[in-house]
Amino acid sequence: MVAEKITQCMKPHGEEGFETIESMNINHRDISEFAFDCIDVESDDKILDIGCGGGVNIEKFLKITSNAVDGLDYSEVSVKASFKQNRNAVNNGRCKIIQADVSDMPIDDESYDLVTAFETVYFWPDIKETFKEVFRIIKPGGRFMIAQATDGNHPDDKKWLERVEGMNLYTAPDLEDYLLGAGFENVESQVKKDDYILVVIAQK
Ligand SMILES: C[S@@+](CC[C@H](N)C(=O)[O-])C[C@H]1O[C@@H](n2cnc3c(N)ncnc32)[C@H](O)[C@@H]1O
Repeated sequence: MVAEKITQCMKPHGEEGFETIESMNINHRDISEFAFDCIDVESDDKILDIGCGGGVNIEKFLKITSNAVDGLDYSEVSVKASFKQNRNAVNNGRCKIIQADVSDMPIDDESYDLVTAFETVYFWPDIKETFKEVFRIIKPGGRFMIAQATDGNHPDDKKWLERVEGMNLYTAPDLEDYLLGAGFENVESQVKKDDYILVVIAQK
């Protein structure tokens, strides 16, 4: 029997999309915790979380920086969920949730000190070109952090690649290569001990 494709991860949609986001908020907690351990966030960093899903990482960043923390996602359901999760910050003008595709962001050049991408680069179109678009919106000296559940060595990788619609899997060397190609420097990868969670941080 061929297992049904999982269609919600790439772009949460409909009622089931909200349920998927609730699960992701729980299932991605370890990835988020490891990524926050890997990055020093300055107290005045202006931050954008791309593929923000349920907006829980936006909420965490808002507690660390006094500057704005924005989210961007092309899914209407993710935008609504992130808005709901961060309603006060949105109403206070500290947070904007932008509905757009990462490959063409309605954002000025050199806008952010830190841009993050949790469990999302798997789904981005033409990743080499899209990393150039991310580079464009980061301030000189600013950083881009990618966090994902697997470094490409997880025993379940093949199963996920087959089941999750639109998924591409990148190893640390792949991501490092594409980031350098997009103009980033000081690219460093870390894998969680006794786990497969990968965090890559690059500087503009
Ligand atoms: C697996 S979810 C991860 C959500 C959240 N970052 C987390 O860690 O729980 C992937 C998210 O990336 C978004 N996404 C995927 N491709 C995108 C694209 N091309 N542009 C903007 N958002 C994208 C999806 O809509 C979805 O909300």
